[in-house]
Amino acid sequence: MPSVLKELKPVNTQPAVMQNDTRIGGLITSREHIAPGILVKHAAGRFFSEGRPEALAVVECNEPVGLVTRNKFLMKLFRAYGYELYGRRPVISLADTAPLLVDGDERLDVALDMAMDRPFHDIYDELVVVDSKGCYKGLLSVKELVIRQSHALADSIVQKELANAKASELEKISQVKSQFLANVTHELRSPVNAIISLAELMKISCDKGYIGQLKDRLSLLLSSSASLKAIINNVLDLSKIEAGKMDVITEKFDVVAELDDVVETGRILIGAKPVDIKLVADEQSLFIESDPVKFRQIILNLVSNAAKFTEEGRIIVNLETEGDFIIVSVDDTGPGIKNEDLDKLFAAFSQIEDTKTKRHEGTGLGLTVTKYLMNLLKGHIWVESEWGRGTTFFARLAKNIA
Ligand SMILES: Nc1ncnc2c1ncn2[C@@H]1O[C@H](COP(=O)(O)OP(=O)(O)OP(=O)(O)O)[C@@H](O)[C@H]1O
Ligand SMILES: [Mg+2]
Repeated sequence: MPSVLKELKPVNTQPAVMQNDTRIGGLITSREHIAPGILVKHAAGRFFSEGRPEALAVVECNEPVGLVTRNKFLMKLFRAYGYELYGRRPVISLADTAPLLVDGDERLDVALDMAMDRPFHDIYDELVVVDSKGCYKGLLSVKELVIRQSHALADSIVQKELANAKASELEKISQVKSQFLANVTHELRSPVNAIISLAELMKISCDKGYIGQLKDRLSLLLSSSASLKAIINNVLDLSKIEAGKMDVITEKFDVVAELDDVVETGRILIGAKPVDIKLVADEQSLFIESDPVKFRQIILNLVSNAAKFTEEGRIIVNLETEGDFIIVSVDDTGPGIKNEDLDKLFAAFSQIEDTKTKRHEGTGLGLTVTKYLMNLLKGHIWVESEWGRGTTFFARLAKNIA
């Protein structure tokens, strides 16, 4: 049984002032463009020219009519017979003719939201920035947007912390912020690199007809994409919460079905590690009136931590009812958390130094987002842990928040 019980203080959900008034027109990363009629074989040279552009907007009479991104373009051109097939066609034939067009006066967070609403693979694309008349102004990478948004978020949280901090804590706060920004950049870069090299390997498997290999690589590709999406979503969610723009949408839903789904996702996250995961619930179904998306995200954050930090043993997701409340616990046989670290857990950007293992992936935002979401659902979260034995997180939520 874990010996340490730590009750968590309620968080301040007063919106902080987010520096979200940045307009994306000022963030343009490239002004590269090409005419639609240029032949593909000539366009290819542009990707190898000085500056090695990541993308070219296809522009006709000042208006963007398409977008060619380096990776998709070169993959098509250099696959078997690609050059013969496409070389003499106009570049517009290889372009995405419905790229995301965003007005340069649009706010940073709004543009990022628009990019995340697109099918997932498109987040590697660039936004095409236009002026109010629809004329081409330049390109802006989604990655740059996420990094800028992370800076705005870090600044806003640090401002809040600074207001309460003692002089001795100031240095520490700025160190934590820098570490967080370094993590975000690292975490964005590593899945992107994994995705690109996996896609290249899959192409080789495809050419050689190795279907088994293709399947394995596809699973890795999906998990890299999922971790990238989770990071971006955490940054976006916390930005929204900080700016007081996160709405609660209440509806009736089956908690057991949601938990079943989360456990299945947990199984994927555990991968090949010798860790069992199961759901323990007395009822077959239990309907509550709350926000299902936020509920799911809270439990998924806890389960994904358990899956990430547990090397062997088991994870149990348990559902209990207590009058008008439900209590969901996530119990693991992972490394546990030291008593002195429990206070830091829910602070933004914090990752606990673990001498037993290497630094784990992540930005240290998961539990911060979880704690804020719990507040929005009028819930309460606490943790019990024993260093070396395991950790249990408890989430107590009202059955009806309407
Ligand atoms: N189940 C757990 N067992 C052991 N340590 C944990 C567990 N859950 C959280 N922690 C510790 O708390 C820290 C903060 O967790 P949090 O979810 O906020 O961030 P993260 O998982 O490191 O990154 P992110 O969630 O942004 O990917 C973790 O880095 C880890 O040190
Ligand atoms: Mg986490």
